[in-house]
Amino acid sequence: MTLFRGTFLDTPSDPFAGGRLRTEEDGALLVRDGVIRARGSFADLRRQHPQEEVVDLSGGFVLPGFVDTHVHFPQVRVIGGLGMPLLDWLDQTALPEEARLADTAYAAGVATDFVRGLVGAGTTTALVFGSHFAPAVDTVFAEAARVGLRITSGLVVSDRLIREDLFTDPSRAREESLALAARWHGVGRARYAVTPRFSLSCTEPLLEACGDVLGAVPGAMLTSHVNENVREIATVEELCGCDYVTSYDRHGLVGPGTVLAHNVHPTDPELALLAARGAAVAHCPSSNAALGSGLFPLARHRAHGVRVAMGSDVGAGTGFSLLKEGLGAYVAQQLLGDAGHPLTPTHLFHLATVAGAEALGLGASVGDFSVGRRFDAQWIKPAPSTPLAVGLAHAADPADALAKMFALGTPADVRSVWIDGDLVNAPDPHLVG
Ligand code: GUN
Ligand code: ZN
Repeated sequence: MTLFRGTFLDTPSDPFAGGRLRTEEDGALLVRDGVIRARGSFADLRRQHPQEEVVDLSGGFVLPGFVDTHVHFPQVRVIGGLGMPLLDWLDQTALPEEARLADTAYAAGVATDFVRGLVGAGTTTALVFGSHFAPAVDTVFAEAARVGLRITSGLVVSDRLIREDLFTDPSRAREESLALAARWHGVGRARYAVTPRFSLSCTEPLLEACGDVLGAVPGAMLTSHVNENVREIATVEELCGCDYVTSYDRHGLVGPGTVLAHNVHPTDPELALLAARGAAVAHCPSSNAALGSGLFPLARHRAHGVRVAMGSDVGAGTGFSLLKEGLGAYVAQQLLGDAGHPLTPTHLFHLATVAGAEALGLGASVGDFSVGRRFDAQWIKPAPSTPLAVGLAHAADPADALAKMFALGTPADVRSVWIDGDLVNAPDPHLVG
């Protein structure tokens, strides 16, 4: 057993329903076999467990690991392609890089960069858009397993309107997806996600094949894109003859295990349908800004009772940090004026942790530091004299410290990361001090 000592912050009760930030100053968590067995003040727990090893994380703050509900593995090397709307960016920036993953050795290098990027940003759980190439999807599952990252991922499928070297067909999609699920679903921390790229690039028979795979793999998730860009939406409506959410729903693809990214321009009936199905939406603010997709209507999602969590959407998103995405979520709501949903730092924190865990069906095991949860954690401890160090030194209280983390924090401020109680990133000796 290990006693982790530090100042712990988490949001076990929903701030959207009046819940407040929970703070344990000079606290301790007792962890055995990756699970939190007890929590309380360090003094009390030390008295009760005088023999256990102590990991001292005093100074800085210990947060639950972030949960990124939408991030593209093949796009890590093309982050920063600014200046284009969605469909041009896909053609010119994202898809040429995705085609390079036909080379499995290249894909393995990308997988290494990708997993390092997530863990380095304090993300411990992610719903990962895979590759169009099955061997490349193996590389990301294998790298996540090697490092210990908790991922749900799968084969991306498309059979129209994008570059042809990324096409599959329904029977191949079915076969390759089932083979990948057989290799990875439920193995260690991995799970499978059925992943039609977006209904713009998927014919009805292909979406039907996705439904077959979903039905054949108990506990598999479904992830895709929805209502991101006005030109894209018009094309989908023309091709499918229905609204965007219905284009998935009519193939049985919208349910409690579904996470659809963006939903910047939904209609009210679509929001009502998402709520009725219990599906979740991944809000990806830096991507929405970079591609000029629009401002996310969070208040309308809340009003309809649609579950919302955060995604980095790397590589349209501008980095892996959910601190930056949280700040972006706040900014987007400010820019919406009266139509915006006011967000406190505690809301942002909840969206990046508990809400993500719930969207991924993992709310009983990760997302906060309650007894019984797995110890997935990040230690935010900036180097001396850095902007965040100055901010934290002058924070009025823990909520103010959290605000400063969202305003100023970067992956450089994430000193260490644990998953199931195991350290998954080696501390950088240059940052120790
Ligand atoms: N829609 C279909 N594919 C993509 C993608 O890779 N990124 C984003 N942001 N939207 C998409
Ligand atoms: Zn995306």
